Amino acid sequence: MSETATITIEGKQYEYPVISGTEGEKAIDIRKLRPDSGYITYDDGYGNTGSCLSDITFVNGEVGILRYRGIPIEELAEHSSFLNTAYLIIYGHLPAKEELGHFEQQISGNAALPDDFRHHFAGFPSDAHPMAVLSGMLNAIGCYHTEMTSNNREQDLEHFDQAAAFLISKVRTIAAMTYRMGLDLPFVSPRDGATYVEDFLHMMFSKEGADYRATPEVSNALNLFLLLHADHEQNCSTSTVRMVASGGANVFASVSAGVSALWGPLHGGANTAVIKMLQSIHDSGDDGSKFIEAAKSGKARLMGFGHRVYKNYDPRAKILGGAAEGVLRNLGHSDPLLDIARHLEKAALEDEYFIERKLYPNIDFYSGLILKAVGIPVEMFTVMFAIGRMPGWIANWREIATGSKRIHRPRQIYTGKVDQHHVLIEER
Ligand code: CMC
Repeated sequence: MSETATITIEGKQYEYPVISGTEGEKAIDIRKLRPDSGYITYDDGYGNTGSCLSDITFVNGEVGILRYRGIPIEELAEHSSFLNTAYLIIYGHLPAKEELGHFEQQISGNAALPDDFRHHFAGFPSDAHPMAVLSGMLNAIGCYHTEMTSNNREQDLEHFDQAAAFLISKVRTIAAMTYRMGLDLPFVSPRDGATYVEDFLHMMFSKEGADYRATPEVSNALNLFLLLHADHEQNCSTSTVRMVASGGANVFASVSAGVSALWGPLHGGANTAVIKMLQSIHDSGDDGSKFIEAAKSGKARLMGFGHRVYKNYDPRAKILGGAAEGVLRNLGHSDPLLDIARHLEKAALEDEYFIERKLYPNIDFYSGLILKAVGIPVEMFTVMFAIGRMPGWIANWREIATGSKRIHRPRQIYTGKVDQHHVLIEER
């Protein structure tokens, strides 16, 4: 017999179906609650609300599980590449050799930006934040491909494969150009035959007469970073992408909104905030102990710690934390900030405040140390997150475009003034 949930309101009972996900997650389907009873639910921050059914990513935050299309993140981190994982996330299965070859080719063949696109960069002040530039430029590049940005779902879906390859490819070109714009350096064209990560680093760091060639250690570290960021179910930016897509907007506009949502320090901006925090702890001569006390008293926030869903170790942080030491060792770097991070982690995990609230390191705690070690400047950290998250945003856009007919439109509980009347200006 199928399960139901009964809600009693003002003495009257209403029965609603219980639905289950494939991993056993349960939800009460309250879609008929308002028509039946006039009541809505209130859930500030959506911590208790399933906004959609999705086939893409599964997170069990209680035990620290993350799977893309059913495959554990640990297996992907060990055996897969970023583009292989991107294909999996977007199309739902691991690509066959030819599928992967074609996908990679589509991506490497679309790295260049139209010549007349370049002048847009000149319109920004040189100290413009790279996330603002990226968000603007993703919408702008869509204007050069009107067949993919019609806001007519059928038409946009007809061009979906091309749009997906364009976005994954061009987001890193735009990122590299943004970085160079800030330094007043000439743009570098993509290099044939380079891998995704190598080409990005080449466009970032090559100088006249000195082509940047990434070492395998640097390439592998960045590949891992991108793969671990590729999707993470209904977070702030992905839900924003779905929200924008639900109104019928094209994928370029939707991911551009995703970039803006990602920017804030409680979401993707945390990777920047972590490094700044570690640096200021280091500069003040603290080993992290004073900072922990400040975080406990509410005077500071331990960035890179805590998560809405993970009440256990974020599996991505575990992988990146382990990788950070290896990356630094392989690159022959030592970073005092890594020691501070290790000390903060140990102290926090043994402290009652953090234990009680189930606060563990999240993905951003160690990711910045890896980015710093491979030479990515701090102001580009959140842009790196956006490059990694692009496949997840695209897959979520497609899920809405192919499956959802309803515009996303939450309700609210009005708490403002009542019974007010307009007063003429001379009488105010
Ligand atoms: N340092 C100190 N205290 C914290 C922290 C922290 N990083 N995170 C949560 N708390 C405390 C919070 O003060 C509250 O305490 P109390 O119950 O006494 O009021 C309790 O823990 C619950 O916190 P919350 O703010 O209600 O939790 P949330 O689910 O709304 O917020 C979060 C989740 C990630 C925004 C938050 O933990 C945070 O601000 N962390 C630091 C920023 C960060 O690292 N963000 C990256 C998240 S992972 C990647 C991504 O999604 O982008």
